[in-house]
Amino acid sequence: MLSGRHIVLGVSGGVAAYKAAYLARRLVDAGAQVRTVMTDSATRFLGVQTLAAITGSTPVVGLFAATDVSPHTTLARWADVVVVAPATAATLSRIATGLSEDALTATALAAWGKPVVLAPAMHTEMWEHPATQRTMTTLRSDGYLVVGPATGALAGGDEGIGRMVEPEEIVAAVEAALAPGDLGGWQVVVSAGGTREAIDPVRYLGNRSSGRMGNAVAEAAAQRGAEVTLVTTAGAVEQRRVTVVVVDTAEEMAAAVWKAAAEADVAVLAAAVADFRPADPAAGKLRRADGPPHIVLEPTPDILAGVAKMSPRPFLVGFAAETGSLDEAVVKARRKGVDLLVANDVTRAGSGFGTDTNEVALITPDGVVEPWPLLTKRQVADRLWDRVAAMRGAAP
Ligand SMILES: Cc1cc2nc3c(=O)[nH]c(=O)nc-3n(C[C@H](O)[C@H](O)[C@H](O)COP(=O)(O)O)c2cc1C
Repeated sequence: MLSGRHIVLGVSGGVAAYKAAYLARRLVDAGAQVRTVMTDSATRFLGVQTLAAITGSTPVVGLFAATDVSPHTTLARWADVVVVAPATAATLSRIATGLSEDALTATALAAWGKPVVLAPAMHTEMWEHPATQRTMTTLRSDGYLVVGPATGALAGGDEGIGRMVEPEEIVAAVEAALAPGDLGGWQVVVSAGGTREAIDPVRYLGNRSSGRMGNAVAEAAAQRGAEVTLVTTAGAVEQRRVTVVVVDTAEEMAAAVWKAAAEADVAVLAAAVADFRPADPAAGKLRRADGPPHIVLEPTPDILAGVAKMSPRPFLVGFAAETGSLDEAVVKARRKGVDLLVANDVTRAGSGFGTDTNEVALITPDGVVEPWPLLTKRQVADRLWDRVAAMRGAAP
């Protein structure tokens, strides 16, 4: 799939630069046309002539020395994808802040709108430093694709996280970056987290949902090309193409989901929404001295039902947390007017609230139950999008 593709390989100044020569070789062998750009430091670690011989094109080093009057924009325009491997802490930081003083970072910036894959490589302490971690958060949220680093042997005999991933893995990331986003053009709304219903100004009725499942669904959709509105009570997903709407109560979530769903092609409602709320929350903090309060509950809006009765309505996926048997979920799949229901038994080990994994069953309105194995929440999200894409067809 790389045959004939234009790949700009950026090399910055770390020991792993020697692997960039092998990466260039792999890309050329896969049929890609490869041009390279090196920082000054990189030339201390890897010969310019080496990359020239492998790719058939002299690396660009420096913005002003070359014969091309504007080498960074030439490279960026030519590129289908830019890959920076290794990406040093310094280079990553310059890209994140837009400090484009050298040909590599200027190329990375000039390639805005195209996929840019970054393969960080550095010592563990440099990687774990808050400055680097801030940089990575910024880069991810700006839409850069980050591969690695891996854990293993580092230069100087150390061991730990920071090692550049192997060239084969970088080639796979480049292929993935060039793959068409199968959800491109889709408008998606996802709900995540658990709602909180006030008892008094201090306390609330809540639940154990961490928001991780919904966040994974939103992140996966955005990475596959969808425009996503994530309505959440939990920590935001920093991801290009995800608009985050932070809410607290079922009422607020309902308003935000219904507004976005009116425009959406697909709604995935993964939030754990309170069914009932205190009808008359206390204006002041309830006091122990006043004895146990008598709290009267009233129903909250049924968000799923509200979307189900929209006309036209988006393709609708509901989530159902069950304890024990999934019989109730089968009834719910039929009754709620969804296209798919994702049910999980939250009492199972490794499943449900607060874990990184989930063991779910997909249930169709006609009662077909398809159990999935224990997967990471991101794997569940990707499988779910595979299924939704297959059921809806590719068109937005
Ligand atoms: C022997 C040696 C190895 C280095 N390895 C790395 C490395 O793996 N990762 C890194 O971020 N910096 C590393 N550095 C520091 C960078 O070379 C330095 O920050 C440099 O300014 C990076 O410039 P560049 O990002 O423009 O290439 C190393 C320095 C030396 C002397």
